[in-house]
Amino acid sequence: MAMQNPVFEKSLLRFLSCGSVDDGKSTLIGRLLFDLGALPEDVLTAAQMDAAEPDFAALIDGLAAEREQGITIDIAYRYFETQTRKFIIADAPGHAQYTRNMATAASTSDLALLLVDASKGLTDQTRRHAVICDLMGIKNIVLCVNKMDLVDFAQKPFHQVEQAFRALADSLSFTDIDCVPICAQSGDNLMSQAARMPWYRGLPVLTLLEQAKGRIPANTGPRLPVQYVSRAGRYRGYAGMLCGGRLAVGDSVVIEPSGRTAQIKSVKIGDMPLTQAEPDTSVMVTLEEDVDVSRGDVLCDPQDRPEISDQIQAHLVWMSDRPMFPGRTYLLKAGTRTVSAQITALKYRVDVAELSHMSARKLELNDIGLCNLSLGRAIVFDAYTRNRDTGGFVLIDRVNGETVAGGMIRFGLRRARNLTWQEMEVGKAERAAQKHQKPVVLWFTGLSGSGKSTIANLVEKRLFDLGKHSYLLDGDNVRHGLNRDLGFTDADRVENIRRIGETAKLMTDAGLMVLVSFISPFASERRMARELVGDGEFVEIYIDTPLAECERRDVKGLYAKARAGEIKNFTGIDSPYEPPESPEIKVSTLKHSPEQAAQTIVDWLDKNGLLGTDADL
Ligand code: ADX
Repeated sequence: MAMQNPVFEKSLLRFLSCGSVDDGKSTLIGRLLFDLGALPEDVLTAAQMDAAEPDFAALIDGLAAEREQGITIDIAYRYFETQTRKFIIADAPGHAQYTRNMATAASTSDLALLLVDASKGLTDQTRRHAVICDLMGIKNIVLCVNKMDLVDFAQKPFHQVEQAFRALADSLSFTDIDCVPICAQSGDNLMSQAARMPWYRGLPVLTLLEQAKGRIPANTGPRLPVQYVSRAGRYRGYAGMLCGGRLAVGDSVVIEPSGRTAQIKSVKIGDMPLTQAEPDTSVMVTLEEDVDVSRGDVLCDPQDRPEISDQIQAHLVWMSDRPMFPGRTYLLKAGTRTVSAQITALKYRVDVAELSHMSARKLELNDIGLCNLSLGRAIVFDAYTRNRDTGGFVLIDRVNGETVAGGMIRFGLRRARNLTWQEMEVGKAERAAQKHQKPVVLWFTGLSGSGKSTIANLVEKRLFDLGKHSYLLDGDNVRHGLNRDLGFTDADRVENIRRIGETAKLMTDAGLMVLVSFISPFASERRMARELVGDGEFVEIYIDTPLAECERRDVKGLYAKARAGEIKNFTGIDSPYEPPESPEIKVSTLKHSPEQAAQTIVDWLDKNGLLGTDADL
């Protein structure tokens, strides 16, 4: 394959082909490759892409990991070269439901070939793909008006499509648009000027590709996200993929997020020392000063510093079958940093066909939306429109590790630099010590009617008798007050548990032993609640009563109603319950009475030092 002997002098253009399924995308690519003598089996695997181009974007990294888990993102990468240039085409399927494939392909492309059927004109799909290309930062569009044979190779229909597209593009931010009338099947205007359309005075597709600008230049100063620190030899070297601008020996840099400054002592690519490095290369630098730099830090241009914030607004392309709900937490991977991220608000969903904003309560597979996110730690970033490398991220499901979204940062919502944490004189430890106890959350989860509240009540009574200060948060009760506005959709349950997790955290901060009795059906929110409090302060108690038994008991008569179709989204019937995989305590109510269960729990707390007296604390 040509990859084995790459010609380095030729510049590389990465582009994607998009358009509706029957607009002739495969024909065009097939024809182009055939005319160039490339073999159809020149399809690159992710590993070969890595070898060919080490600066594989973060998005693809995430997706490669996903591939290993058996979820396929359906993009074929093909390599070919001409006398003057090397190319990688990302070919993503055109169906509406494959937005995620297209967005992923676009995120690493510098140009898009957008196909339109001359006899049909612009379709919803054309608009959708144009909007996604724009959102993913593509500036250069080659609109291929295909199937010109169906309109007798006439100029007028071509001109109409061109005008309609340019009108659409007025509200987007493409900088280079070329429109070419083609007939992919017979190759007209692909490799050379078509005799059948003498009125077309522009260039054929291949020449446009050969002459197109390459890598979309970032609109920021240099950034070097540190991927690893090498301690070999006398100096520490910092390695990473340089982006945004050149970096030269003698340059001053600011190390974010600490804000310290330093000067570049040396720059190397591999073993080769250089005076300066170009963007999009893997470099290793050393600094004159002995400053503290660790993996995840970013060396930046002091004249053009990036943003630092733990609150951001970003567009998300949702890529998972499991919908996104505001309130849920995910892992956010941006460059070399991974932090926890909670979606605090879904501002709107983008209707890509209509170019309009719709209010929405969740994002589903292939949806695009604008969200606010709150991060566990501040990150260093630029707006995606300024720098695709430092402005992009992926979201990862914390429970199963699946990549669920690609994100493009718009801006930081507040500056972390300007915020301080107000230290209180009286803290959690003081409040707990005054009560002679250890703060803890006892999180009861299980189906409705499993016995959570009954057992939690008995446990609280025993704690009370032991002189402990406690509070019991119970689903049915809290839903009469704080969470009165919430129902039982998945989105509402996520928000229900988010609020209860935060409330329980405040109560542990007050030094209390907090009992929480909610169905809390999703592993993700139980994990979130666990991570809100300190290590060892969260005890997950699974009240394991089989559905059939809950239904047999049916204390509140709700199962009968749910079966009769009078209650929708009932847990265990038409709404899911994800049992805990490794709870601290699991109680089977088939085998034990509520009193025995309560005793088991109190014994466990005692054995694990959570009932300690003043002297132990
Ligand atoms: S959770 O899923 O959001 O954690 P929560 O524990 O607050 O639920 O509330 C569950 C209680 O609400 C049940 O014990 C039951 O009494 C009542 N309820 C009413 N409708 C439903 C429903 N559709 N699904 C589950 N419980 C319901």
